[in-house]
Amino acid sequence: MPQADINRRLLLAIGALLLPAIGDALADTADTADTDTPRPDSGGELTTACVPWTPEVQGACPPASAITFTAGFGPREVPLDPQELGTFADGECCYVVQVVGTVMGCGCNQGRRLLIERLPRTAGLAATRGWHDPRVRPPTCTGLDRARRSHLARFWASVGLNEHASIASFHRVALELMAFGAPAPLIAGAQRAADDELRHARRAFTLASAFAGAPVGPTVLSVDGFSLAASRAELAARSVREGCVEETVSVGVASAMLAVATDPAVRSVLSGIVDDEIRHAVFSWRLLKWLWAESSAAERLGIRDAFATDQPAPEAGYAPFPDDLGAWGIPSDGVLQAAGLATRRSVVDPLAARFCA
Ligand SMILES: [Fe+2]
Ligand SMILES: [Fe+2]
Repeated sequence: MPQADINRRLLLAIGALLLPAIGDALADTADTADTDTPRPDSGGELTTACVPWTPEVQGACPPASAITFTAGFGPREVPLDPQELGTFADGECCYVVQVVGTVMGCGCNQGRRLLIERLPRTAGLAATRGWHDPRVRPPTCTGLDRARRSHLARFWASVGLNEHASIASFHRVALELMAFGAPAPLIAGAQRAADDELRHARRAFTLASAFAGAPVGPTVLSVDGFSLAASRAELAARSVREGCVEETVSVGVASAMLAVATDPAVRSVLSGIVDDEIRHAVFSWRLLKWLWAESSAAERLGIRDAFATDQPAPEAGYAPFPDDLGAWGIPSDGVLQAAGLATRRSVVDPLAARFCA
C-alpha cells in the first residue's frame, strides 16, 4: 500500500474515532504532505558523552567534531556544538551531546520506546532460542553473501530489541493508567499492545536468527531507574512522545519497509506489524483524549508544549546500510527518513493542531 494511502488510513482511523468530522478533512492533506522537505533538526535529549583520552600522548581534548561518539545501530550521540573543546577529567574528554535517533538512524522512531531517566533503554543481544517463533517462515537467503546476511541479521536484531523494549513500555502505561484511574478499555488496550509487541519482538528475532544462522534474542532488560509517571502532566507528556508521535510515525516507517520488501517471510512479518501499529497509534490518541478531558488548563498547556517540542531529529554520523537490501525490508536511508517525516507532517502534526486547538 503506498505511503499516502497508509497515512490516509491513519488519519481516518484516528480522526474518525477521536475527533469527529476532522478525519475526512485531514485525509485530503495526506498526498501533498508526502512530498514535503524534512524539517530542520531540533535535537534530542542533552547529555554528556566521554571518550578515553591520554593527554600526554594525544594532547589536549580536540573539538567535538573530531570525535566518533557512537557507531552502528541504536540512538546516536551528536555533538551539540561541533567546535566544543572537550573537558578533560579522569582520563576522559567529555562533551555535551544530543541523543538522537533510532534503530535505523533515520530520525524516525520505530515503535514505542522505553524511556528511563529520559533516555531510551533496550536489552542487549544474546544467543538464545527463547524468542524463536515457529510460525515465521524462514526468509530466502539464497544469493546473499556473508556481509549482507550480517547486515540483515543486525538490522532485524535491532528491530527485535526495540519491539522487546516496547513490551515494557506498554506495561508501564497499563500501570500508570491504573494509577490515574483510567477506564477499563484503555487498560485493556495497553495490555493488548504489549502482547502485540511481544509477537513483533519474537518475529523480528526469528528473522535475525535466520539471517545470522544462529539463535538471536535479548539479554536481561535492566530496569535500573525505572519509574512510573509521578503526575498526570508527566504521563501526558510521555504519552505524546512515546505514543502519539512514535507509534504513529512508526506506521509510516514500517509501511516503507513493507513497500520495498519482496521476501514472503519478511512481508508477512511486516504486514502484521503495520496492522498492529495502526491500532497502537489509535490507542495512543485515545489515551491522550482521555487525559485531555481529565486535565486542568495548565496540564493542557503541557500537552501542547509536548507536541511542540517533540520534533523529528535527523541523524549525523550514521553509517548507512547497503542499498540493495530492500527485498528483505531495508529501504534506503533516504526512503526511511522521508517516510517517517511524511507521517509526522501529514498525520501527527495536523492531528495535534486540531486536537490542541
Ligand atoms: Fe507498537
Ligand atoms: Fe511493534
